[in-house]
Amino acid sequence: MADIFITTQAFPEAIRRLSEAGHEVQTTGKGALTREELLSGVEEADALVCLLADNVDEALFAQAKRLQVVANLGVGVDNIDVQAATRRGIAVTNTPDVLTETTADLGWALMMASARRIVEADNHLRRHGFPGWTFMPPHMGVDVYGTTLGVVGAGRIGSAVARRAVGFGMDVLYHSRAPKPKLERDVGAERVSLDELLSRSEFVVLCVPLTQQTEYMIGHRELSLMKEDAILVNIARGPVVDEEALVEALRNGRPRAAGLDVYEHEPQVHPELLKLPNAVLTPHIGSATEATRKRMAHLAVDGVLAVLDGRRPANLVNAIEGLGSG
Ligand code: NAP
Ligand code: GLV
Repeated sequence: MADIFITTQAFPEAIRRLSEAGHEVQTTGKGALTREELLSGVEEADALVCLLADNVDEALFAQAKRLQVVANLGVGVDNIDVQAATRRGIAVTNTPDVLTETTADLGWALMMASARRIVEADNHLRRHGFPGWTFMPPHMGVDVYGTTLGVVGAGRIGSAVARRAVGFGMDVLYHSRAPKPKLERDVGAERVSLDELLSRSEFVVLCVPLTQQTEYMIGHRELSLMKEDAILVNIARGPVVDEEALVEALRNGRPRAAGLDVYEHEPQVHPELLKLPNAVLTPHIGSATEATRKRMAHLAVDGVLAVLDGRRPANLVNAIEGLGSG
C-alpha cells in the first residue's frame, strides 16, 4: 500500500481507482495550495498528483523522502524540476495527446474571437443594446479564411492547430527545430525561420513548451516583425512572450490584437492587458472540457499505478532505471 497526495479535487471515478488498488489517498478540498501545504502534503507521500500551479522543485524533493512518482495534470512540465527528479530516481509523468485537440480548439477560438472582435461586440451589445443592422459597425474585424497561419512549435498541439487551417483555405507556415514531414505532406505546411514566420503570417499561434530556449522567444523585436494587421495567440506558456513588450505593442496596434490563454506571472494578469480592448483573455483553460479533463485524470492515475507497480508508464517524461516495460 502506498500513500498518494493529490493537490486538487479531480474526477472521483479516476481517484477511486487508486483506493481500489489498495492505496491511501489524500486529496485537498479547496483551491490552490500554499507552499507550506504542498510541502507538508508530500512529506509522507509515495506519489504526488499535482497541478501546473504547483512548484515541484529540489526543495520539495528534499522534503519528500518516499516519493517515487510525480504525475502532472497537464502536458507541460515546466513547473517540475525534471532533472532533479531524475537524479533522485523519481518518475515524472504528464498528460500528452488526450488534450491535444481540445487545446487546439481553444487556439482557434482565440483566433476567431480576436479576428472578429467577438468579446468587444458582445460587451457593446449588452451595454448599449443592438441599434439595428449597420453597414459600418463599430466592431469591424479581419478575415480568417484565405490568410496565412504561422505555428510556432509544430508538435502535437501545433500540428492540430495547423490541420484546422485546411478548412479555412489558409497557407500554413511553421517554425520548429526539426522538420515535420508529415505536417508538410498533410497540410502543405512550409518550414521557415521564426523571423520569416512572423513577417508573413496573419495569425501567429504559439505552441512551444516553456524551456530556457523559448523563454521570451517573442519580445519587442519579434513583435515589430509582425504584420500590422496580424493577430498573436498564445496557448503555450506566458513567459514565452515578454508581456511588457506585448502590452506596448498592442497599445500601438501592431499586432492588431492578441488572444491569450496564458500569462507571464500566473495567476496574475498584467493590469494593462485588462484595459486593452484588443486583447482577448482566457484563464488558462486550453484543456478545460469535461471529457478532456476526465481523460487527463485517468491518464495521471494510469501513470501512478504503473510506477507503484514497478511498470514503465506510457506517459513517462524522464529516464528512470528499474521500471520494466508498460
Ligand atoms: P509537443 O508535442 O512536445 O510540441 C512542442 C513542439 O515545440 C515540438 O514539436 C518542438 O519541435 C517545438 N519546440 C520545442 N522547442 C522549440 C524551440 N526552441 N523552437 C522552436 N520549436 C520548439 O508538446 P504539445 O503537447 O504540443 O504541448 C506544447 C505546449 O503547449 C506544452 O508544453 C504546454 O506548455 C502548452 N499547453 C498549454 C495548454 C493550455 O491550457 N493553454 C494546454 C496544453 C499544453 P522541435 O523539437 O522540432 O523543435
Ligand atoms: C496545460 O497548460 C498543459 O500543459 O497541459
